[in-house]
Amino acid sequence: MQTDLAPQLLDWYDRNHRSMPWRVPPGARAAGERPDPYRVWLSEVMLQQTTVAAVREYFQRFTARWPTVADLAAAEDAAVMAEWAGLGYYARARNLLKCARAVAVDHGGQFPASGAALLALPGIGPYTAAAVASIAFDEPAVVVDGNVERVMSRLHLVETPLPRAKPELTALAAALTPQQRPGDYAQAVMDLGATICTPRSPACGICPWMDPCAARAAGVQASLPRKEAK
Ligand code: ADE
Repeated sequence: MQTDLAPQLLDWYDRNHRSMPWRVPPGARAAGERPDPYRVWLSEVMLQQTTVAAVREYFQRFTARWPTVADLAAAEDAAVMAEWAGLGYYARARNLLKCARAVAVDHGGQFPASGAALLALPGIGPYTAAAVASIAFDEPAVVVDGNVERVMSRLHLVETPLPRAKPELTALAAALTPQQRPGDYAQAVMDLGATICTPRSPACGICPWMDPCAARAAGVQASLPRKEAK
């Protein structure tokens, strides 16, 4: 049953994906063409703790000023910090520069093309490594953020509270990650979580996973994922 779920979601994504400046939509890619790993990495770092709406403008300004990772690596620290101003979490900007310089110096200005090698770069954790590996290199890496945890907890009716449920939700996400189009799939789950499988009042009536969703069948979708009492 599980192996059927990815194609349904990918069909939905092909018709409903959100347009974002760092995305190259499935229909707009030439055969074998991938999104630029620099743009994917930059967007994913910016999107940590910041909304898509807020990131758009910053992303456009950064990529206009520093079109490649080598350009960013050569930037003055102060110039990057000034462009980052307003995005918050300034450690992210410092790590951004460290990572860009490691790519420039240790990898000849090209992002390494595997999740494992990306994870070895400074400032890149498991989420970012998996997101870049899957979106830019189509590696079937398991991408888990808050959206994915929510979707998995509902689809599979996981009542264990967070954060205790994390390993279980990651295993469920791994079992669903397809070998075909894993990068589109990762973004499809995130879009589903952001637009339909929302924290409150999920729009189950238009969800591509309505039928297989165990939480919906039980009528408990809006109360998942559960959170450990603080
Ligand atoms: N949130 C973080 N990364 C994202 C992506 N690539 N697509 C949609 N939402 C996201």
